[in-house]
Amino acid sequence: MSEEETFEKNKHIKYFERCFKILPYHYTSADTNRMTFLFFCISGLDLLGALDQVITPEIKQKTIEWIYAQQIHPDPKIGNIGQCGFRGAPFMGHKFEPNATETIHEPYDASNLAMTYTALISLIILGDDLSRVNKKAIIESIAQLQQEDGSFSPVIFGMEYDMRFLYCASVISYILNDWSGINIDKAIDFIKKSQTYDFGISQGQGFESHGGPTFCAIAALSLMGKLDEGLISKKDTLSWCLSRQVNGFQGRANKPPDTCYSFWIGAAIEILGGYEFIDFETHKKFLYSTQTNYGGFTKYPEYEFPDILHSYMGVAALAIIPEKTPEIECLPQLETRLNMSKKTFDKNFPNNVFWKNK
Ligand SMILES: *[C@@H]1O[C@H](CO)[C@@H](O)[C@H](O)[C@H]1NC(C)=O
Ligand SMILES: *[C@@H]1O[C@H](CO)[C@@H](O)[C@H](O)[C@H]1NC(C)=O
Repeated sequence: MSEEETFEKNKHIKYFERCFKILPYHYTSADTNRMTFLFFCISGLDLLGALDQVITPEIKQKTIEWIYAQQIHPDPKIGNIGQCGFRGAPFMGHKFEPNATETIHEPYDASNLAMTYTALISLIILGDDLSRVNKKAIIESIAQLQQEDGSFSPVIFGMEYDMRFLYCASVISYILNDWSGINIDKAIDFIKKSQTYDFGISQGQGFESHGGPTFCAIAALSLMGKLDEGLISKKDTLSWCLSRQVNGFQGRANKPPDTCYSFWIGAAIEILGGYEFIDFETHKKFLYSTQTNYGGFTKYPEYEFPDILHSYMGVAALAIIPEKTPEIECLPQLETRLNMSKKTFDKNFPNNVFWKNK
């Protein structure tokens, strides 16, 4: 990293454009998550103010159609067994049917909460009105995905249950303006039990405090309007978060700083109202040092090649900074809880334009 390193806006636009147009083959094995990669690219371009410059109205519409084609509706015979929402890609070989209203159920074909969440946010950023979203089916599925302990599984035949999916379920409920699929008391109980002796938050009871679930829990509580109720000690959790700053942020005590935690921990600190306590300058320098010559960001400064997740997190982390120096003035304020710009948020929420009268 050189002293003059600065924010490489144009390179990042090129990087997201390239990944949006031709997803590099390295991501083939992660095809079940393709919706998330799409979200990183469009939201990244949106934050960089380049969405309209890179994506024509025609391609926007085609992208919207592609997203809707991943929606899973109730099956006419078996109904809703918790499978409704969005899948990550057409890897099951389904027909392209963006306007279907029912989906014949097949084994292993089910929505995933993370894909439903990123599909909805992507539709909003692309300017869709969500009129084809099967709200009722999604909310009913969310209810079936919540576990006895209050956590969520991403899919109905799931084997992982943790804080990440509690967060996704909360964002979906917030966007659809309907919390009836979540037992909030149980969710809060799960969050409380996941707080550890150091007041950081873990993926579930008995695990280690970690930046990712700390963000997920705090953002979920904030969306529920239960921040004060759900945290055992807000002040101590903020203190745990602030202590994660090295130059950038580490995800756990004694780990090296990593670009994505600038977002996760940074966003958690922002929601808790303590962003003024971080050292902006060293934080920003760390982030600049993880930019690559090809555009995009890496996880660690010594890595050469970018990846889509860290690239998005790098841009989003810089967008959180409230007092922007000239080189990042172009970045809009981020609505950290939902992962979209405040501008896109204000246009649609909290006076929810999609479901106000529905
Ligand atoms: C689906 O419906 C939308 C309008 O809601 C329309 O613009 C679009 O062309 C339709 N797509 C297909 C493939 O029928
Ligand atoms: C942003 O999106 C990524 C991918 O879904 C997720 O890991 C992260 O927690 C999100 N943050 C917000 C604020 O939505």
